[in-house]
Amino acid sequence: MRVLLTGGTGMVGRNIKEHQKAINYCVLAPSRQELDLTNREQIRNYLRINSPEYIIHAAGLVGGIHANIANPSRFLIENLEIGCNLISEAATMGVKNIINLGSSCMYPKNGPNPLKEEYLLNGFLEPTNEGYAIAKIAAQRLCDYLRIEDDSRNYITLMPCNLYGKYDNYNPKRSHLIASIIVKLHEAKVNNKKTVEIWGDGKVRREFMYAKDFADAVWFSLTRIKEMPHMINIGIGEDYSIFDYYKKISMILGFEGSFTFNLSKPIGMKQKLLDVKKINHLGWFPRHNLELGVKKTYSHYLECNR
Ligand SMILES: NC(=O)c1ccc[n+]([C@@H]2O[C@H](COP(=O)([O-])OP(=O)(O)OC[C@H]3O[C@@H](n4cnc5c(N)ncnc54)[C@H](OP(=O)(O)O)[C@@H]3O)[C@@H](O)[C@H]2O)c1
Repeated sequence: MRVLLTGGTGMVGRNIKEHQKAINYCVLAPSRQELDLTNREQIRNYLRINSPEYIIHAAGLVGGIHANIANPSRFLIENLEIGCNLISEAATMGVKNIINLGSSCMYPKNGPNPLKEEYLLNGFLEPTNEGYAIAKIAAQRLCDYLRIEDDSRNYITLMPCNLYGKYDNYNPKRSHLIASIIVKLHEAKVNNKKTVEIWGDGKVRREFMYAKDFADAVWFSLTRIKEMPHMINIGIGEDYSIFDYYKKISMILGFEGSFTFNLSKPIGMKQKLLDVKKINHLGWFPRHNLELGVKKTYSHYLECNR
């Protein structure tokens, strides 16, 4: 069975590729140089030559709050092109199975938490990542339309909560919360700094899952794609405040200083906790709690920065 994995050089893609279930498939993971998803022609040729039975779509322009605020037009345009090009070309070329990756950013900013799948398009989006969210919603809707037009197409969207783990991006301009906390606390510890700054008041809440667990959910979904709902949340079912993350990660890293709060910085949505009843009902649960996931991530960070 041939699986085309897009985004195979990214954090999520690399975790999917090295997951134990990947050995049951022939996983094709072209780099951007081999397959640029903003180029329709390249996609068509690639699909024609390689004829994958499945596509796992894990490519995209991804970034934290700073990057999204600085460049909303790029987040909109590139993700819209990548998603629409790949999914529509796959339909034209007769690919029957697609796992499209969505994001909890696609849910309305004032939706009641935990966020249920049916809340999609039920309210305004969070302005700090609106461009990214609109592009991701377009890809999800496209999967739905194409499935409705031809029900032999098993096109589903997984909606992960925030992710962290092995292969995370530690570049301060692009990093997500857990990676940026690890870098800040590690540097404070080795440089004997007594205080670390937190953006905002630390009260907003986030749900984070270890990326290897998400990779497991992807393979779980792929093996039973015909029975999967067209859109399904994947998360751990609990969230913590930003301040909680700083405190918990400090304990794991051994940072003993204190924190200051910079109230002038943007904070994003107040809460983004996914309702995970549907995926749990299908028998899937994550295996890493926050402590175990952060310990493994920090070891990987230290290995990469030796
Ligand atoms: N990370 C999270 O917390 C999170 C949470 C929810 C959902 N997701 C979703 O998961 C997916 C992957 O996220 P990630 O964290 O793994 O991001 P990432 O580490 O930044 O990886 C993105 C991947 O997409 C590739 N890519 C970008 N533009 C491309 C293009 N034009 N053509 C071909 N490939 C292109 C990148 O290739 P290069 O290496 O060449 O740049 C890279 O392999 C995204 O759809 C994202 O929305 C992520």
